[in-house]
Amino acid sequence: MDVCVIGAGYVGLVTSACLAFLGNTVIAVDANTARLESLKRGIVPFFEPGLSEFLTESISTGLLTFSDSIEQAVKKSQIIFIAVGTPPMPNGEPDLSQVMTVARAIGHALDSTKRRVIVNKSTVPVGSGNWVEMLVKQGVQSVQTVPARASKADAPTFSVCSNPEFLREGSAIADSFYPDRIVVGTTDEFAADLMKTLYKPIINQSFEPPIFIPRPHDITSIPYVVTDLASAELIKYAANAFLALKISFANEMSGLCEKAGADIREVSRGIGLDRRIGKYFLNAGIGWGGSCFGKDINALIQVAKEYNYPTSLLEATIAVNQRQRSVVIKKLQDELKIIKGRTIGLMGLSFKPDTDDLRDAPSISIAQQLIKMGATVKAYDPVSNENCQTLNPDLDVIYCKDVIELAHGCDAMLLITEWEEFRHANWQEIAKVMNCPLVIDGRNTLDEATAIKHGIIYRGIGR
Ligand code: NAD
Ligand code: UGA
Repeated sequence: MDVCVIGAGYVGLVTSACLAFLGNTVIAVDANTARLESLKRGIVPFFEPGLSEFLTESISTGLLTFSDSIEQAVKKSQIIFIAVGTPPMPNGEPDLSQVMTVARAIGHALDSTKRRVIVNKSTVPVGSGNWVEMLVKQGVQSVQTVPARASKADAPTFSVCSNPEFLREGSAIADSFYPDRIVVGTTDEFAADLMKTLYKPIINQSFEPPIFIPRPHDITSIPYVVTDLASAELIKYAANAFLALKISFANEMSGLCEKAGADIREVSRGIGLDRRIGKYFLNAGIGWGGSCFGKDINALIQVAKEYNYPTSLLEATIAVNQRQRSVVIKKLQDELKIIKGRTIGLMGLSFKPDTDDLRDAPSISIAQQLIKMGATVKAYDPVSNENCQTLNPDLDVIYCKDVIELAHGCDAMLLITEWEEFRHANWQEIAKVMNCPLVIDGRNTLDEATAIKHGIIYRGIGR
């Protein structure tokens, strides 16, 4: 099939590479020409395991190409994905300006040579499908005066559907090939069928998996869920909100565990074994961050406000998460008493492992808070040091090249991101070079017994 994907960020790039791998002809479009030039050489502007190699492979088959022209890409394609950013605005609403620009440009480029499906993959509020349709029509009308489009028979035919994306950063390619479900929101049978054909190899798991991402043994087919537009749009927000709610629930319980002398890891395991609850997303710690949970919950709250509908659970989910970021600082105060003049080392900066994404990363607000309290803050992240320096030039942090350099002279270290390498750290050496060998494990991820055996004063969360 001929596909174009507008927006070559996390979602757009991964979607483009996967669809090309499945044999489709894909044009990935982006407005950032410098980014496009790098991508043509297989250089990905962010850290995502395997993506650079995968991209290079897709480019070499000739099925994946790059362009800065929406006009040309749309004309060649039957399916047009919108995968541009929808970042949060200060009032919590998502900024839909990228979607608006792209939708109008698509309309401007449409012709009547084929019936097309425009697919909204960006995360957008309920009702955006209808809004995008209106914008596309405006784009179409803007060229209606051109003689070639003057007759009604020449009017382009298209429909807009919603196809929310559920991939996680750090495992984006695997999540795209082996998703829990594919959701398509449309009442247009043609669009539903076309999308089903596009996704057929994934739905039936009939493709030969890439060598480096083998198919999990228990996956034989993927549920294909067709809904109306509004339901698909709401499914995306509701899924993220529910995942964040689960984590906040575990975090609220973790505070209670500390008071009552229980262990949140046992409590999470004990409730997670109940299949109705499920074991995932119950890891307590410093809470969730990233580009989407906070943004999407706030956007959902704003949608509800339009209907004057109360969202107490969503607001509590955010409040518990905010509180959780200060829990590690409180623990530091409990142990060190005075923070002023202390040196604190942050193990990890990215909002989770296997990514260099720092959007809404707890590390940043924790570093800011510690600096404000008079501490010297050092940090080491296996991939995000440079990104952090570039994005936060005013953040007064000393960046270290490894965990031993980080530990030197520290009065305490805070584990912020559960990178695999921290689990295998040389605690003996770390305890030797720290001023005071206190480690607060903000993700309950370290082997406590090993750390203690090597002289670390270990503190976890909720235990
Ligand atoms: P991103 O910021 O990484 O990428 C967006 C891309 O769109 C950028 O490369 C930008 O240059 C390009 N762009 C902006 N305006 C353009 C225009 N007019 N024409 C062409 N290109 C343009 O964003 P992302 O993380 O890929 O997220 C995209 C959407 O998907 C968002 O709505 C997000 O909420 C959603 N989403 C993201 C993830 C994730 O893990 N990042 C997962 C699921 C859903
Ligand atoms: C999340 C969703 O999992 C994806 O399905 C969705 O597509 C994506 O948001 C999106 O819409 O952008 P992502 O943000 O990449 O994906 O990362 P997650 O693995 O969900 O982790 C989010 C945050 O929750 C991280 O800060 C992580 O450390 C934290 N977390 C996760 C916990 O604190 N505890 C847990 O048990 C699990």
